[in-house]
Amino acid sequence: MNDRQTPPELPQMAAIVSLTKRTGYVYPSSDIYNGLNGFFDYGPLGTTLKDNIRRFWWESMVERPPVGPDGRPLQTFGIDSSVILNPQVWQASGHVDGFHDELTDCAETKKRYRADHVMCYPARLNGESEMLGYVSVMSGDDAVEQLEKRYRFLEKSLSGKKLTRADFKDGVPYIELPEDEQKKVLAPDASAIGTLGAPREFGLMFETSVGALAGSDSKAYLRPETAQGIFINFRNVVASSRPRVPFGIAQVGKAFRNEITPRNFIFRSREFEQMEMEWFCDPEESDKWFEFWVHERREWWNRLGVRSENLIVRPHEKEELSHYSSATSDIEYRFPFARGEFGELEGVANRSDYDLQQHAKHAKVKMDFHDQANNRAFVPHVIEPSAGLTRALLAVLCDAYRYDESRPSKEYLALPPKLAPIKVGVFPLIAKEGQPEYAQKLNNHLSQFFTTRIEEKQSIGKRYARMDEIGTPFCITIDADTLTDNTVTVRDRDTGAQERISADKVDVYVDAKINPGAATLGGFKP
Ligand code: GAP
Repeated sequence: MNDRQTPPELPQMAAIVSLTKRTGYVYPSSDIYNGLNGFFDYGPLGTTLKDNIRRFWWESMVERPPVGPDGRPLQTFGIDSSVILNPQVWQASGHVDGFHDELTDCAETKKRYRADHVMCYPARLNGESEMLGYVSVMSGDDAVEQLEKRYRFLEKSLSGKKLTRADFKDGVPYIELPEDEQKKVLAPDASAIGTLGAPREFGLMFETSVGALAGSDSKAYLRPETAQGIFINFRNVVASSRPRVPFGIAQVGKAFRNEITPRNFIFRSREFEQMEMEWFCDPEESDKWFEFWVHERREWWNRLGVRSENLIVRPHEKEELSHYSSATSDIEYRFPFARGEFGELEGVANRSDYDLQQHAKHAKVKMDFHDQANNRAFVPHVIEPSAGLTRALLAVLCDAYRYDESRPSKEYLALPPKLAPIKVGVFPLIAKEGQPEYAQKLNNHLSQFFTTRIEEKQSIGKRYARMDEIGTPFCITIDADTLTDNTVTVRDRDTGAQERISADKVDVYVDAKINPGAATLGGFKP
């Protein structure tokens, strides 16, 4: 069985979308009105799965943060800021002026490009004076290499004639070409000239108005990232919690972006959730902490239950860096829609003191940290691990998706037990002879500790299949023997193996499987 096998009739991603809707993980938003592009609703199982991921992040980052390189536990504080902030926040952060893109669409490849990143080089055929048009490539250190490749590609269709670069050496951004000239550009990856459209500006922040009167005075924005809510509370947290540098401030919450191309299900949506931490440190130590957090966050995705072979860390090229970042590494996952390539789950960025300095300037307040022990004041630098919660949910679902013709449910979700929305199914084998009553009692006991689902109807095979499909790791069956010897069978979702165990041990058994290797009380060894 190939765990990335595809159902015969559907590409894997389509199968996952269909399964998640059918079982209550994710629905298209406003479904009865034909949906709204880029928006999704989370059903009963999706809400619990999302909450389980969020809780694991919160425990790992805030409640039980990792031990630092010097063996001391790190110090982090959780906050929950408003979604709508004073609009000056977004002026200071650079989002009002900078959070929009000039985009151009290629009619042939359907690819969309930042118009300032498409570099155009005029080209002519050897020995001819007339210009052929412009060959374009994406800007970057390898632009010349890309250009050579494009020339060779074109020469093949020019029956051996040689193409040369004409006139200007460094290329011109598509956005700077006059309209008439834009029509002569061969887009990156296109085979015909003139397929790129006129650049159009897209603001990525959703606007709203605060108060009864709409107008420029009341204009506000839905936050496009949770991070700024943290920066503007830096002084409050320092004053109220009296931390020592380094320390972190974390929050989880909704973010909104009017994405130009929401796509790939919940991967890129217009309303999503982020799990962000700003790590305030001594400027001298920012490189050390950057390395620490890149490593730590990569490990976290593994601990969450995402398979290591589907994860990579990708350092950003210089030209990819955001305006605030001096270094960024993305943690990426091999999503099924990315044709074997990887898509970003989380970015770890060195934001230096950019945000604190910006807010100091715009709000006219000091953002210094007073290091009493060493009698000095400085504006901390910031390392930011910023992960998508809804994207994490998608990665967890993709990683758990299995297709196996030989199983009753064919499709099932091998979710890590700690994340599974329902941990235990409790079934009386038959709905008589005292079995339902026993099952009810056992369920009442187990449901104090775990999410359980008791089911009496249909054949036991069908009940197992339904639990497999939603990713329930354990099913407990009560049969005639249970009533005499107080033993039950426990079925493992992934192997289908069944074990007979004492009913009074079921809680401990399930708990050990959900939290393998969990810290044991009384287990301290100096
Ligand atoms: N504060 C930094 C920041 O927001 P980002 O790379 O734009 O950085 C961080 O976003 C994470 O948020 C991404 O790695 C991704 O997981 C998630 N994310 C960003 N845009 C998203 C979208 N449109 N839909 C779903 N998740 C998104």
